[in-house]
Amino acid sequence: MAGKLIDLGLGGGTVTDSRLEQTLFGVHFSNPIGLAAGFDKNAEHLAAWPKYGFGHAEIGTVTARPQPGNLRPRMFRLPEDQGLINRMGFNNAGAEAVAGRLRNRGTFPVGINLGKNKDTEPADAPENYRQAFRQLRGLGDYYVINVSSPNTPGLRSLQEKGPLMDILQALQSEDATARFFIKVAPDLTESALDDVISVAMAGNATGLIATNTTISRDGLKADPRQDGGLSGRPVRDKSDAALAHLARQCGNSLTLIGVGGIFDADDVIRKIQLGAHLTQLYTGWIYGGPGLIPKILRDLCVRMDQDGVKNIRDYIRS
Ligand SMILES: Cc1cc2nc3c(=O)[nH]c(=O)nc-3n(C[C@H](O)[C@H](O)[C@H](O)COP(=O)(O)O)c2cc1C
Repeated sequence: MAGKLIDLGLGGGTVTDSRLEQTLFGVHFSNPIGLAAGFDKNAEHLAAWPKYGFGHAEIGTVTARPQPGNLRPRMFRLPEDQGLINRMGFNNAGAEAVAGRLRNRGTFPVGINLGKNKDTEPADAPENYRQAFRQLRGLGDYYVINVSSPNTPGLRSLQEKGPLMDILQALQSEDATARFFIKVAPDLTESALDDVISVAMAGNATGLIATNTTISRDGLKADPRQDGGLSGRPVRDKSDAALAHLARQCGNSLTLIGVGGIFDADDVIRKIQLGAHLTQLYTGWIYGGPGLIPKILRDLCVRMDQDGVKNIRDYIRS
């Protein structure tokens, strides 16, 4: 049978299969599915993620100083749309506390997603990101410049060329060897995405993450009144379109992580075919539960058997 299932308790488990493994930017990934940012904001559950089958986890968003986030309620389910709306507002314990939890973390790949404090003016953003990074330097396999959450006023304007380059350069001045990704919104136009690519290329970033949640409410069955970012099935097509555009424009020169609306193996394969080297999910796991990742991994192995594919990466633009 394709893919060996290992039950690790917690209602989860993982699947090992060499065809799911890849080494990217010097990091070994046992499979291409990661936990997206926002679930383990404070790195409190690092030991659990491999047990649920994930191949990596992105912790955060972490800010330089701790902050409480927005008032509750701040997360809403849209079951008929398989979606979520959230306006958490980067509630987190701050970089110093998170750094303490990341020391001695072992070999499971971890990305650290960095954001701006709510009370930091956009003009001071590079210094604010730098302060967060300085405390977390050396503790992550990669770092993410999150300029795409809709819940911090002014944050998404930092996706523009000048401000984005200033942040990237501020971080690189702290550690030129760290691997930096930029996480984009699904609501950017193609020309705005091209600007992000040009910053990433000129600034020697490692890659891009497409995408964060959307501010659009198009095509919903529900009629939500809540402000915030929409994730899950309703963001899937927008995320796919952004990913496809990025892949077309930057070829193989950047590592791409596809996130937004993944619920099953078909979604993972489609993102990889569009150009993703790795994938992540959040909302799908909320609806799918703890057994979801081993199920998807097993389905991926079955698909690779059927398609005669020797490694998951061979689906890229096949
Ligand atoms: C409740 C919630 C909180 C989130 N918090 C963050 C965050 O702190 N930083 C971030 O970059 N993305 C955050 N996200 C966005 C996810 O990482 C992901 O980009 C988005 O939800 C699309 O993936 P999905 O459809 O699989 O959920 C959050 C999403 C949800 C649902």
